[in-house]
Amino acid sequence: MAKVLLTGGAGYIGSHTAVEFLEAGIDVVVADNFSNSSPEAIKRVEKITGKSVALYEKDVCDKDATREIFQDHQIDAVVHFAGFKAVGESVAKPIEYYRNNINSALVICELMREFDVKGIVFSSSATVYGTSEKVPFKEDAPTGGCTNPYGWTKFMIEQILSDFAKATPDVSATLLRYFNPVGAHPSGMIGEDPYGIPNNLAPYVCQVAVGRLPMLQVYGADYDTPDGTGVRDFIHVVDLAKGHVAAYQHMKKGVQVYNLGTGHGYSVFDMIKTFERVNGVKIPHKVVDRRPGDVATSYADPSRANQELDWKATLGLDDMCRDAYNWQRKNPNGYRV
Ligand code: UFG
Repeated sequence: MAKVLLTGGAGYIGSHTAVEFLEAGIDVVVADNFSNSSPEAIKRVEKITGKSVALYEKDVCDKDATREIFQDHQIDAVVHFAGFKAVGESVAKPIEYYRNNINSALVICELMREFDVKGIVFSSSATVYGTSEKVPFKEDAPTGGCTNPYGWTKFMIEQILSDFAKATPDVSATLLRYFNPVGAHPSGMIGEDPYGIPNNLAPYVCQVAVGRLPMLQVYGADYDTPDGTGVRDFIHVVDLAKGHVAAYQHMKKGVQVYNLGTGHGYSVFDMIKTFERVNGVKIPHKVVDRRPGDVATSYADPSRANQELDWKATLGLDDMCRDAYNWQRKNPNGYRV
């Protein structure tokens, strides 16, 4: 039976992807060091799907430790989520970000070579398009010009995996450039659970909604956008997770690159208003200065993934806001009880 290794599989996107793989009848093995996630997420994945997951507490920077997983299971592809992901923190701790994110990718490539694993799907990001103003982003747009070390690690790992696939016959590397994942599984059992104060808009809004944080700061209302606030391509995490299954099912040798987004841009104010309307709550907020490194507008041209992967985002902003709040209300402190 096909078996996919999800590195970082207990995290926000990883856990949702585990559910979608299992529901598609594909077995998963999860490796996670729980540096920004909880084993409880995997227990809940098992509850949602009624299937069991082989869970390994491993740091995938540690090759010898990670080798055991490949010895224990016949892995036919890796979906590599594991990595540090906080933009601001990466500016303060560049060495840690480069060491962790690049090292783990190299370890996975080496183990794939050692165990003759033919496929890797990588968790990349729209951040690789840098500060280009040319929206919507198409996959063949220039990359680079990232504004922080986190973004550069995504850019560099894309290069590493491309070179690996080019040099190794039959290896398939699929680079998935995520736009802005939000929302949660409709069961409310798994969702986003950032440690500390959230950096991203949706988890911040959720924590204001449940009274964990007093007020949202809107980073700039003077952008060249319809209402002055930043515009992003918010995508429901369940749609995003399904994109990984589609990518796995359509693997072909060589390097493939896909945007995973909806193709629609919504502003920060759109997000706040929709969240308030759908959930019947108030989100106190105030406009403050722009956040350094933010672009005005970012949204995908997802047509390549629509055509080649037979995948399309189907859930809208209402669904994202409803499901995000449902998760947060049921789990006001995330996985910590
Ligand atoms: N925003 C606020 N207040 C907040 C947080 C965010 O106003 O408290 C605004 C931002 O200024 C931006 C929008 O909400 O206009 C979205 O910000 P996020 O931090 O949620 O997302 P980003 O678009 O900045 O970053 C996301 C991912 C990164 C990835 C990037 C690529 O979090 O991992 O997209 O485009 F690199």
